[in-house]
Amino acid sequence: MSEELIEKSKKLAAFAAVNENVSKSDRIIGVGSGSTVVYVAERLGQLENKEKFICIPTSFQSKQLILDNGLRLGNVEEFDEIDVAFDGADEIDTNLNLIKGGGAALYQEKLVASLSRKFVVVADFRKQSPERLGHFWRKGVPIEVVPNSYVKVLKDLFKLGANSATLRDAGKAKAGPVVTDNGNFVIDADFGEIPLNKVKELDEKLIRLVGVVETGFFVDYAEKAYIGNEDGSITSL
Ligand code: 5RP
Repeated sequence: MSEELIEKSKKLAAFAAVNENVSKSDRIIGVGSGSTVVYVAERLGQLENKEKFICIPTSFQSKQLILDNGLRLGNVEEFDEIDVAFDGADEIDTNLNLIKGGGAALYQEKLVASLSRKFVVVADFRKQSPERLGHFWRKGVPIEVVPNSYVKVLKDLFKLGANSATLRDAGKAKAGPVVTDNGNFVIDADFGEIPLNKVKELDEKLIRLVGVVETGFFVDYAEKAYIGNEDGSITSL
């Protein structure tokens, strides 16, 4: 699978999503995180009336994207409601359940999604899991945890039936666990393939564990998804 094709499909999805979902009356726009959202920010930056938007970031990366594209930066604390938010996903099932958090920004992404009147997902063709979550993002679901709880939460996850659960490592260059923008750790927990009607149930069990700040399951958030296909078409869900 060529990298060029993947990039093209990300851009296709992101540009279509912005073109079709930013209305004249919108003022507050949520900007997600990840490599597909790079194109959302690019397209927002091309809009003639871009000075009228205030963009709410979901991570350090997203803040940089907003600034680099000449957009106005706002704070999530300033607004009760966000008109429309755009974000990527690691997996999307037919019910628009998502797995997010590949970039460890899940908490702020969910905060912005929860304040948004319209939450629009942008992704390339690899992210679609038609039957059930658990196909593409093979590491499982990312879970943000308070640092001193990670040993306990790892044990809890196995008790809940996880096939594997690992503290996300920052890689050789940084040595040690990934630390989120909120100063927390991330655990990736694999529960295998999760049927459409079981995602919410599992999510509710995870969120009740002491130490868990937020999970990467986004259930009942997405209103629309734009998926760029290899042949240049777009699938809208
Ligand atoms: C970051 C995320 C990203 O939106 C998700 O990982 C998708 O990223 P990409 O568009 O690079 O595939 O949830 O926490």
